[in-house]
Amino acid sequence: MINRLHEGDAREVIDQLEDNSVQLIITSPPYWGLRDYENHPNQLGQEETPHDYIDELILFFEKCKRVLKDDGVLFVNLADTYYGSNNGKGYQPKDNDKQVSNKGSGKSFLTYKDKSIRRKSLTGIPQRFMVKMIDHGWICRNEIIWKKNNVMPSAVKDRFTVEHENIYMFSKNEYYKFHQLKEKMKTKDTSNPRGSKGCSTPQSGRRHKCKQNKLYRNVRSVWEVNQQPLRIEHYATFPEKLATRMILCGSDEGDVVLDPFMGSGTTAKVAVRYNRNFIGIELVRRYIELEMERIDELFKET
Ligand SMILES: C[S@@+](CC[C@H](N)C(=O)[O-])C[C@H]1O[C@@H](n2cnc3c(N)ncnc32)[C@H](O)[C@@H]1O
Repeated sequence: MINRLHEGDAREVIDQLEDNSVQLIITSPPYWGLRDYENHPNQLGQEETPHDYIDELILFFEKCKRVLKDDGVLFVNLADTYYGSNNGKGYQPKDNDKQVSNKGSGKSFLTYKDKSIRRKSLTGIPQRFMVKMIDHGWICRNEIIWKKNNVMPSAVKDRFTVEHENIYMFSKNEYYKFHQLKEKMKTKDTSNPRGSKGCSTPQSGRRHKCKQNKLYRNVRSVWEVNQQPLRIEHYATFPEKLATRMILCGSDEGDVVLDPFMGSGTTAKVAVRYNRNFIGIELVRRYIELEMERIDELFKET
């Protein structure tokens, strides 16, 4: 199964993976009601209610628990959906679309059968999902805000433009493989940060008096990563920089990284770049072809 792209429904293909065989899972499942992936009858994200969608995700991630090593980590990227209808055609948050140039189908599949959520309200999918995962025994270690500085301008008049998505980091156990990542301090203030006795560089780890531009700190929970325009025909990709962060903190060279909703192959490409093994699952054959092209691109780059 390793270093292969598997065509099929992730909910079935995952049953072929061995217990405790994957170090890291990185994935962005189809969001609820937002896109049609080639009209495929088995695609996730078109359940009648947000509750059905979340239940489906929870069942799937229970399957992931079996294949994830005891010290493994799971990252899930999810965005919310505005609830309601627009003359029965659906109500889509265009500014929350993933791709810079949004050429998606624009079609909405939402039926809004659940009347307990008011029209125009955020559905609360990421937060409902996070709480349910905790209820199912996952340890939620971080809620990360992925802040995109290059979202499309929005014409909405009665709320603010959405420029973020959520990423949740879960572990199976209290102790797990995690490499702390460091980033440059963003502050112009040269005094020591509040509560610290000094600053450290990633190289030395030694404490020293803080100097502007030489300061490093742990990566924080708001990740400013711009959408990456791609020449490929897939409308819901996440940027390589995002996958890079997750792969570097959650795995070592030689480890196995799984993406069960592989899309255009971002996770596989970054895994190969950093000498990890990958397992990719994708429902739509056409996207598997894209994935292969993207991995080939990498070999041309090197
Ligand atoms: C949000 S996209 C993933 C994008 C990916 N992170 C990337 O960077 O390209 C979700 C993908 O899940 C696929 N998908 C939908 N339902 C699926 C299922 N039941 N099993 C496997 N893949 C599925 C879709 O075809 C789509 O490519």
